[in-house]
Amino acid sequence: VSDAPRGAAPCQTVPVSAWSVTGRTVLVTGGNSGIGAATAAALAAHGAHVVIAVRDRARGEAAAAGIGTRGGHPVAVLDLDLASFASIHAAAERFRSRHDDLAVLVCNAGVFLGSRRRTADGFEATFGINHLGHFLLGCLLFDHLAASAPARVVVVASAAHRHAVGGRRLTDPRAARTGRGYRAYARSKLANVLFARELHRRYHGRGITAYSLHPGVVATRIAQDGDSRLAGLFWRLGARWMRSPTEGARTAVYLATEPGIEPLGGGYFADAVPVRPGRTGRDDDTAARLWATSEELVGCRYPSPADLDTGHEVC
Ligand SMILES: NC(=O)c1ccc[n+]([C@@H]2O[C@H](COP(=O)([O-])OP(=O)(O)OC[C@H]3O[C@@H](n4cnc5c(N)ncnc54)[C@H](OP(=O)(O)O)[C@@H]3O)[C@@H](O)[C@H]2O)c1
Repeated sequence: VSDAPRGAAPCQTVPVSAWSVTGRTVLVTGGNSGIGAATAAALAAHGAHVVIAVRDRARGEAAAAGIGTRGGHPVAVLDLDLASFASIHAAAERFRSRHDDLAVLVCNAGVFLGSRRRTADGFEATFGINHLGHFLLGCLLFDHLAASAPARVVVVASAAHRHAVGGRRLTDPRAARTGRGYRAYARSKLANVLFARELHRRYHGRGITAYSLHPGVVATRIAQDGDSRLAGLFWRLGARWMRSPTEGARTAVYLATEPGIEPLGGGYFADAVPVRPGRTGRDDDTAARLWATSEELVGCRYPSPADLDTGHEVC
């Protein structure tokens, strides 16, 4: 793949038939609503032990009950507010104490905010929730992913990443505290694409692969909390022409379940096929700098790939 992250070794020994989520644990953030709920339901139907991470327990339990025991296992609910580092630490701690395995982390939760809002830790909320929160969650669960290798990280990004202006500002720690609206959303989605790209580049040789995706334009609750009137109106009035959440979940489910896709890792997908991301979304230097900045901002360092021995080499 010509757009593969730099340093991605050609894969020669891909265990094409070895990958399955049946009987394994998957964690879906924002799994109570929209694309996340549909992804959780589909993965449960594949026989995975599904854990949905939610910021509202009542909504989470209702979603888990709605999915039921489709694949034979009840869906577990984990409290997680991605707008608070303390909540992310507590959620990771609870997950680690309850589950030995983490086959797939689906970074799906996301917001589109019209007004200027901040996370509990003072970051611009769109970037803080959509990117930094997931970056920290991945860091705190990284040992679990490594111990579970082969494992995957699937990041629900968006075609909006192509509209990120000042992509290079992404790596400026001060920029993480400013912005709003579509600009902030596009920037956070570019960070999603680069996060998956760099994570894959660093760890695919240790059996942890990563993928980002655009789900399509999907009829969900995104932007409908009244905070962004124009975007909310667009999603409300346009719902009948949009994809259903089940259709919107298709690419995330494909990336979580399909055997043999590891050589395409680090890539960005739409409709379950690799698609060339925007220019900055293919920039390995920006990806590496964003990684370093994000580690600094969230106060968590991922292990050096050289120090990691998972006993699994996917590529
Ligand atoms: N819908 C589209 O057309 C579209 C297009 C491209 C990309 N996407 C992406 O798809 C992903 C899923 O969005 P969706 O369309 O399914 O919208 P949605 O129905 O609003 O789902 C978003 C999920 O994120 C959760 N969430 C929001 N803030 C959170 C926080 N601070 N901590 C933890 N969870 C939080 C929400 O929880 P609550 O239920 O508590 O609010 C909800 O479960 C997002 O990353 C979005 O950017 C969507």
